[in-house]
Amino acid sequence: KDSYSITLLPGDGIGPEITAATKVALTALCEKSGFTLELKEALIGGAAIDAVNDPFPEESLQQCLSSDSVLLACIGGYKWDNNPRELRPESGLLKMRKEMGLFANLRPAKVLPQLMDASTLKREIIEGVDIMCVRELTGDVYFGTPKGIDVIDGQRVGYNNMIYSEMEIDRIARVAGDIAAKRGGKLCSIDKANVLDVSQLWREVVTDVITKDFPSVELSHMYVDNCAMQLIRYPKQFDVIVCGNIFGDILSDEASMLVGSLGMLPSASIGESGPGVFEPCHGSAPDIAGDDKANPLAMILSAAMMLKYDLDRPEEAKMLEDAVEAVLDKGFRTPDIKIEDDGCQLVGCVAMGEAVAEVITAMEL
Ligand code: NAD
Ligand code: IPM
Ligand code: MN
Repeated sequence: KDSYSITLLPGDGIGPEITAATKVALTALCEKSGFTLELKEALIGGAAIDAVNDPFPEESLQQCLSSDSVLLACIGGYKWDNNPRELRPESGLLKMRKEMGLFANLRPAKVLPQLMDASTLKREIIEGVDIMCVRELTGDVYFGTPKGIDVIDGQRVGYNNMIYSEMEIDRIARVAGDIAAKRGGKLCSIDKANVLDVSQLWREVVTDVITKDFPSVELSHMYVDNCAMQLIRYPKQFDVIVCGNIFGDILSDEASMLVGSLGMLPSASIGESGPGVFEPCHGSAPDIAGDDKANPLAMILSAAMMLKYDLDRPEEAKMLEDAVEAVLDKGFRTPDIKIEDDGCQLVGCVAMGEAVAEVITAMEL
């Protein structure tokens, strides 16, 4: 197969900017490698609320489901922050993940030598760090019921339910076990089993799955609070970590600072079958939206994950990753990864996308 249909979801804030930069890079890649991506945009988030009063309309869902793969930028913004929950951009994102069955979110945090000084941590702590965070994506306190804000005994009470079924834990443990077996063979499961019943079940099921079906994988367990500390103290101890939805959300943002910027962290959201959604870990960065300051590399690296996981084009994925490293080698830096007096060239989102495209065009096959 040499032609693929891709749904592009630009979303909100810096979303349209990083989407445009990613398109420039992908166009160069297609021309170089001789395959075609038919990129068709669809609505999600605030943009969809403004256009059709629905943060993830049925039409977008159907288009995603009938594509070979989906590339998402980011959603959200102040404008919609006071909307009722079902009319908030975030609800559209959660609906997309749930309805497409994307229960596994892979968030790699790999420290690049070029960006060692962009991290707030010391070089010797982060050198060589390569962590894969496997985050469960369609369960937990995000989707649990009952939920709401009610008046009880004359005062308002807000509540959500942290809940996991055996089946949900089993299938994410298998994804993590599989990845760990193909990488360094180490898996650390993150929970709060000293306090939470849901975590006690999590630990039992993960232990069962890994010891029975992944005998080559060395499994350990860690409480989430300790993990947050260990990620900063000695991140090299981690190979693959597996965690529930909310712990993974928080720990992966933390892990981005090992790499140097949230603007560098890609992710892959995948299910049992059907197209995956490839999305940077970051949000819509409303503080810099419209200023040509956004780093498009997290989305470009997400496109590389799409090529690898959904389109079975590992060579082209590698070309894209190599091109990202090459532009960093050449000294191109968006503001989030620019260090004072580093001798590098400060560029915007547009120029960064063009730089990646130029490197690809100049590649020798
Ligand atoms: P955020 O990730 O948007 O921004 C956090 C900080 O990182 C900001 O200072 C921002 O400027 C910076 N940043 C993020 N991405 C960057 C990039 N590519 N280049 C340079 N700098 C970047 O998180 P937030 O500010 O807490 O949330 C803003 C909005 O985004 C909210 O509405 C939130 O709900 C939404 N959000 C969406 C997603 C998503 O679409 N997957 C993820 C997280 C947050
Ligand atoms: C992310 C975001 C989302 C999440 C929000 C916007 C719903 O923070 O993709 O990491 O919490 O999953
Ligand atoms: Mn997040």
